[in-house]
Amino acid sequence: MAFIVSPSFPVDRSDFHAAWNALQTHYEQTKNHTLQQLFADDPQRFQNFSRRFDGFLVDFSKNHLTSETLTRLLDLARAAGLETAREMLFTGGRINWTENTAALHVALRNRSGNPIEFNGQDVMPEVNAVLAKMQTFAENLRSGALTSTSGRKIRTVVHIGIGGSYLGPKMMIEALAPYTLPDAPEVRFLANIDGAEFVTCTRDLDPQETLFVVATKSFSTPETIINARTAWQWVHQAVSNETDVARHFVAVTANRAAAEAFGILPEAIFPIWEWLVGRYSWASAMSLPVVCRIGFAPFIQALEGAHAMDRHFLETPLEDNLPVLLAMISVLYNNFFDVQTHLVLPYSYHLRHFPAYYQQCEMESNGKSTLRDNTTTDHHTAQIIWGESGTNGQHSFFQLLHQGTRSFTADFIGLINPHHPLDTHHFELIANCFAQTEALMEGRNADEVRSKLLTAGMDPAVIEAILPQRVFNGNHPSNTLLVDRLTPYALGGLIALYEMKTFVQGVLWGVNSFDQWGVELGKELVKGIHAEQQALLAGEAADGGGRNPSTRGLLAHFAARYARPA
Ligand code: F6P
Repeated sequence: MAFIVSPSFPVDRSDFHAAWNALQTHYEQTKNHTLQQLFADDPQRFQNFSRRFDGFLVDFSKNHLTSETLTRLLDLARAAGLETAREMLFTGGRINWTENTAALHVALRNRSGNPIEFNGQDVMPEVNAVLAKMQTFAENLRSGALTSTSGRKIRTVVHIGIGGSYLGPKMMIEALAPYTLPDAPEVRFLANIDGAEFVTCTRDLDPQETLFVVATKSFSTPETIINARTAWQWVHQAVSNETDVARHFVAVTANRAAAEAFGILPEAIFPIWEWLVGRYSWASAMSLPVVCRIGFAPFIQALEGAHAMDRHFLETPLEDNLPVLLAMISVLYNNFFDVQTHLVLPYSYHLRHFPAYYQQCEMESNGKSTLRDNTTTDHHTAQIIWGESGTNGQHSFFQLLHQGTRSFTADFIGLINPHHPLDTHHFELIANCFAQTEALMEGRNADEVRSKLLTAGMDPAVIEAILPQRVFNGNHPSNTLLVDRLTPYALGGLIALYEMKTFVQGVLWGVNSFDQWGVELGKELVKGIHAEQQALLAGEAADGGGRNPSTRGLLAHFAARYARPA
């Protein structure tokens, strides 16, 4: 185990090693206990291993852990410097040390009225000024006070952005669809560089009634800039002069100069800040389309829900701290049981984009192998996160979960009260959620299969012939998270819960959760490959300098077969 130490929050290596080794020993002694046995040993297991906070119930009783495991996990969290790191996160410390900045997303939803400082300056006045600007803009858009150049009402907002500048707002628009205001514009998203997405997105739109939000912290992400340029030309076809075209664009960015150079009007720029990491930016002006759609007050409720979860994370003892518990359970599986993948399974149509949102949050934050002390890790960091809305997943990949050879962990997320009146659907949906967690845990042994099939009247000889096919090993762990109702407040809390879980994991795994150098190499290579592709298409000799034969072969095949549109 390589030591974990940070330039920003030092950790006592010997304490950390001692806590890790104690957990390792405990794991070796208990790893073969089955979940069924753990439940048989403790009739109060559900009460002992579930926690409630602010409309959430987290049941983690279906996990391979005991009270002693929890104690050892939390000892490890303390030894990793979690409490100091947490303090840094909330007070503007330079926790994103490879970029020499803070990760101050908590400031965006700081509803306490207290200042939060970065670089000796309170960031709250600016944060609140942008919120006020979002409110005015969205209200004017909906009322029709803000019109297009031809005086027509804006009916569609197209949000152009990718990664963290896309996944959060997209997930929120879907999650809060029941809160859509009657006079709200339609909101569409344009993320992919694929022209098919642009064409599909704009096919039935009228440029005179369309507004584009160019959402990019850097204002240099090629996907976003190319889509924005195409959008500009698309509006220009209907609107004659550049100044009028500009009235169809706003930007959300930390790079004001680049936005203005692009043609965005200065007053149409909604600032974000260097201290804000893209995948944690949903509570900023990145959610301008969300505010246009559901209104300002519900958006503030989402911030309040996130703030409540932030405070819970900051102030609650680790034993009852939801993000800490979820994170430490994931550390147990990731680093001791060697489980590679984690599923996020919302039993909710409105949360169907939550797995994709969280996939970026954990994998881009913690998918790293260089530790804070620049050594290479000898332990696993982020798991592979995937998922799907629950019942759809059941009819797709759940077969592998139930009878495949892989280990996995899973979060089942259910809503107690839906926004619709269709009780029959809802009862069935939630029954499915609970049934899957039980089936995964209990499994079904040969005796149970035999007796079930005999009762169903099957020929005993046939039963014996197929018996092994019908056995489920079970013993698969899962968490179940129940949310009273998916209000904006609850959604804010849910997002913050997972964000803070990710933060805790990063501290334990010893990585900087707030940079993403791993995405740079591909971005760099694309430039050379693009140049070579253009040379080949123009019939020029491309030098292929140092490029590997597979890529050269693919480029040549593409150039030979590409037929320019007439
Ligand atoms: O994929 C890398 C990344 O930098 C993400 O972290 C970020 O969310 C996304 O690209 C978009 O970046 P930007 O907001 O600067 O366009």
